[in-house]
Amino acid sequence: MKPLLEAIAVSKHYEVQAGGFLRRQALTLRAVDEVDLAIMPGETLGLVGESGCGKSTLGRLLIRLIPATGGNILFDNADITQLSPKEMRSVRRGMQIVFQDPYGALNPRMTVEDIIMEPLLIHGARANAAARKQVADLLGVVGLPARARERFPHEFSGGQRQRIGIARALVLKPRFVVCDEPVSALDVSVQAQIVNLLGDLQQEFGLTYLFIAHDLGVVKHISTRVAVMYLGKIVEIAEKRALYDAPLHPYTQALIAAVPASHPSQRSRGRRERQRIAGDIPSALHPPSGCRFHTRCPHVMPICREQAPAMTEPQPGHRVACHLTG
Ligand SMILES: Nc1ncnc2c1ncn2[C@@H]1O[C@H](COP(=O)(O)OP(=O)(O)OP(=O)(O)O)[C@@H](O)[C@H]1O
Ligand SMILES: [Mg+2]
Repeated sequence: MKPLLEAIAVSKHYEVQAGGFLRRQALTLRAVDEVDLAIMPGETLGLVGESGCGKSTLGRLLIRLIPATGGNILFDNADITQLSPKEMRSVRRGMQIVFQDPYGALNPRMTVEDIIMEPLLIHGARANAAARKQVADLLGVVGLPARARERFPHEFSGGQRQRIGIARALVLKPRFVVCDEPVSALDVSVQAQIVNLLGDLQQEFGLTYLFIAHDLGVVKHISTRVAVMYLGKIVEIAEKRALYDAPLHPYTQALIAAVPASHPSQRSRGRRERQRIAGDIPSALHPPSGCRFHTRCPHVMPICREQAPAMTEPQPGHRVACHLTG
């Protein structure tokens, strides 16, 4: 099977001004640094890592919401990296995004119908009866009542707003959807409902997802495979079962230890106490030499400070960049 989407050495570097008022200097922030990734049709690839590691930047690069500073992105075998804005428009229909913040992402002055219909109009459709019928059908699909149509975003709860955001992302019938922490801003009680809805929609419409989260707990159920990111690099990627049961990278191991125990009895026995990952996240402006995780790694060796580990594949489909396994 061919990947639906492929990233080859994709980078996003930002030139930023750093330092004090007297000694300002231009520095390069490597938000995403030479990432290789293939996403298969119909799968959900979970993407996890701590705040600032580049998850949103990578998600936006893949659908060309922002341009890459290096590398290539293939969608359906076609290189979309160099497409003109006009050529990109037709490709864009096939790739959409659901944002984290259901409060900020929706225009407060537009009705729900207009919000969901807007992408259709941008792509040349008319606001006619057929378009309104499509919106009405989608409301049903995402579990909102028909009367939601003429209401405004502020009249809805966070979970309902996220349903509106999902309907908007689906109106162009995309094949690939980046879900950028779609449940992080929601109450825990609502999170499962939205994750389940996304799972149902995937089945119904044959969608392929990149599902971004901070926490390995959130992506556990929905993911087919999981990729772990640290300071702009993917450090491990594997089938879900292999990643959770036999993680190879010390960072993945630390993230798994940091997932809160789901069952209270486990917590009381202290078997799976939530553990904080030791040390602070280094600045992306001054990433550590060698392996970027070496400043926090419990297994650090001299080579880790000097040489960046290459990606290896110790088991078929299980790739990791670590000197312990390399
Ligand atoms: N427009 C920009 N200009 C300069 N730096 C940026 C810009 N956008 C993002 N960054 C930096 O790139 C890095 C990655 O940011 P990104 O938002 O992709 O991280 P993230 O993993 O999504 O974090 P979070 O979990 O907090 O959403 C961060 O260091 C961030 O400060
Ligand atoms: Mg983000």
